[in-house]
Amino acid sequence: MFKKKNNKAKGNYLTLKESRAIIKHNIKQMKYYEKLKKANVDVSDYTTVMHDPNNVVEIENLHTVFFTDNGTVNSVNGVSFNIPKNKVVGVVGESGCGKSVTSLSIMQLVQSPQGQVIEGSIRFNTDDLGNDETGNKLAYDIVKMPTKDMYKIRGKDITMIFQEPMTSLNPIFTIGYQLDEVMFIHEPNMSKEDVKKHSIEMLIKVGISMPERTYNSYPHELSGGMRQRVMIAMALAGSPKLIIADEPTTALDVTIQAQILDLLKSIQKEIGCSIMLITHDLGVIAEMADEVIVMYAGRVIERGTVREIFNDPRHPYTIGLQKSKPLINTDVNEPLYSIPGQVPNPINMPDHCFFKSRCNKCMAKCSGEYPKEIKISDTHYVSCYLYDKEGK
Ligand SMILES: Nc1ncnc2c1ncn2[C@@H]1O[C@H](COP(=O)(O)OP(=O)(O)OP(=O)(O)O)[C@@H](O)[C@H]1O
Ligand code: SF4
Ligand SMILES: [Mg+2]
Repeated sequence: MFKKKNNKAKGNYLTLKESRAIIKHNIKQMKYYEKLKKANVDVSDYTTVMHDPNNVVEIENLHTVFFTDNGTVNSVNGVSFNIPKNKVVGVVGESGCGKSVTSLSIMQLVQSPQGQVIEGSIRFNTDDLGNDETGNKLAYDIVKMPTKDMYKIRGKDITMIFQEPMTSLNPIFTIGYQLDEVMFIHEPNMSKEDVKKHSIEMLIKVGISMPERTYNSYPHELSGGMRQRVMIAMALAGSPKLIIADEPTTALDVTIQAQILDLLKSIQKEIGCSIMLITHDLGVIAEMADEVIVMYAGRVIERGTVREIFNDPRHPYTIGLQKSKPLINTDVNEPLYSIPGQVPNPINMPDHCFFKSRCNKCMAKCSGEYPKEIKISDTHYVSCYLYDKEGK
């Protein structure tokens, strides 16, 4: 199994010796993980079983790091959560808490060689493998899957919609060319005419009123909302089981944002897929999500149904997030609440609760080891000593 190594840099400034040691360590680590990704392995080496066949993805103890010149950045620090079938799972948390890196880890799209998944598993519930001899649903472990085999699921079973569609679409090819290309990858035996027909159907499905014209247009000829619809059409081309939408509406104005979210929700219902929806916007989560994952400094600090997280938030960070949400009846002269303090340095994470330096409920035992996940209900879990009845 993968070995995790930490660099020795501690202070704010690095000596030349420390800097050289980090670079040497980084090169060794990057070579090690890159070699693993290129290894010639058998399917059985990355086959595992789902813990619950009703989940489409199960993430367990995921660690993703970046080997930088300043040291190892611990972007995702032991994240575990499930994405159930036919559900929208919202992921919230402040900037830099590891939302995008978690989603890129699922797609094996973390910027390599510096970015590497060094520990954990991502079980993907595939129909390719069936069940084992005891009837358990077999799954791919994406963490162990070599890069060359990822094409089996990436872009087909799991697709992604990014924040800024202009950077995802190639400006020198028409929309039709790019849509057809996606289809050709999934269905290489399909005729050119059938692929075009399918691409036009996809454009109609995402609500584009002049699909033929859009098919022949270049990305710069479309509005932001239309480009995002095209991205959704591309994501739908292979009938995905999971769509990862990373801030899909942040670059759009509010009316278009509502249309795109409605479209995503109706498509999710129609094709029966799951959505992992990453957003800063708690309003979007309340509207769209069935379950919510709250992340802080590369960890999941609270998770539950949308009702539990909004009506009964437990972690002081989740409570702070709710308080910092602007409300329509808020006094405009009153400053908006913001959580004081800063996120710990991801290169030197503390051994105790990562929220401790910002927490107004901090107690003596919060200086102990990182709090374990505590069950509030069958669906609601929180990592905070406030709810640790045994330790009281
Ligand atoms: N290519 C990279 N090299 C070094 N560090 C990186 C890289 N990409 C991400 N990180 C670090 O990983 C951490 C998590 O980043 P991530 O992009 O997942 O945050 P996020 O929660 O998506 O934030 P935002 O809401 O701003 O999109 C951050 O500390 C970030 O600086
Ligand atoms: S564990 Fe302690 S410091 Fe951390 S959030 Fe809970 S009360 Fe605050
Ligand atoms: Mg992000």
